[in-house]
Amino acid sequence: MKIYSRITGTGSYLPPRRLSNADLVKQLADQGIETTDEWIVERTGIRARHFADMDVCSSDLALQASQRALQAAGLDAQDIDLIIVGTSTPDMIFPSTACILQGKLGNQGAAAFDVQAVCSGFVFALSIADAMIRAGTASKALVVGAEVFSRILDFKDRTTCVLFGDGAGAVVLQASKTPGILATDLHADGRHTKVLCVPGHVSGGQVLGDPLLRMDGQAVFKLAVGVLDEAARAVLAKADKTAADVDWLIPHQANIRIMQSTAKKLKLPMDKVIVTVDQHGNTSAASVPLALDAAVRSGRALPGQTLLLEAVGGGFTWGAVLLKL
Ligand code: UT7
Repeated sequence: MKIYSRITGTGSYLPPRRLSNADLVKQLADQGIETTDEWIVERTGIRARHFADMDVCSSDLALQASQRALQAAGLDAQDIDLIIVGTSTPDMIFPSTACILQGKLGNQGAAAFDVQAVCSGFVFALSIADAMIRAGTASKALVVGAEVFSRILDFKDRTTCVLFGDGAGAVVLQASKTPGILATDLHADGRHTKVLCVPGHVSGGQVLGDPLLRMDGQAVFKLAVGVLDEAARAVLAKADKTAADVDWLIPHQANIRIMQSTAKKLKLPMDKVIVTVDQHGNTSAASVPLALDAAVRSGRALPGQTLLLEAVGGGFTWGAVLLKL
């Protein structure tokens, strides 16, 4: 009998410290950096973001999101046999944030590892979990995107520090007789490593080089608009569907203009697009599962509906997942 994978629960968590654009504008002004609410809203759609306190790590945010997803699925942590965390802001160099999360959840024995695909991390992690469930090597997976990007922001660089936020989202993905995940499509192009990166590296117990996020925003914007459209079309073709079959587009939440462009190319109205970037900013690998959980918990995304998830990020990486909820 053919095995599929299906999402049986979603959860998310935002750290309580919320900064509106006005709060951030004031904080930056105190350091002599000039920006405005108007610029941020007009260029990105962002109005607020959440920042974790300094003693809070990705695994702490992941734990809250995971517990909510497990509760929604009606499972205990010990039922899980696979944990994948998409993150670029791990708690430590090693062990993986997935193993740290596993310890905090009180799960023993599940395979646990991180996926490093920057903002595409959750879409990559979900695709891997789907493949492992369909191959019969796992049956109940916890798939998480968790980030504390505030730790790697240069608050003297107004072109990047206004864009990102912290948070986590999680899903439980279980083996099922019916799909579930209909198709996945993942890609990367290592020629573009420098357009979005944290270039520093650890050597001799110290970070050598630049430990903060650097981005060529315009280059990323142009690449993103092209590859997101390609990935959406590829995943629809693989599942023998068209954009007209999509009930909800849940894109990576980086910039409202990128989302508008993607929707327009697919001829999807914006009222079929889940938008959280206004309240969350860009939370990298956490953005898609945060938006998915917001869609489910608000009663917009309903069982049986078709969802198109897609993401793009540093690497350059990109991908899409088409699924039936
Ligand atoms: O998650 C991974 C994927 N990441 C993305 O998808 C990000 C993609 N890129 C973008 O979203 C956009 O390129 C940005 C939001 C980063 C920038 O928007 P833009 O429309 O491409 O602006 P720009 O870089 O062309 O800058 C326009 C102007 C510049 O001033 P001049 O040279 O025209 O005088 C910037 O210096 O805006 C200025 N600027 C700012 N002004 C006020 C840049 N940042 C700010 C700021 N406040 N925070």
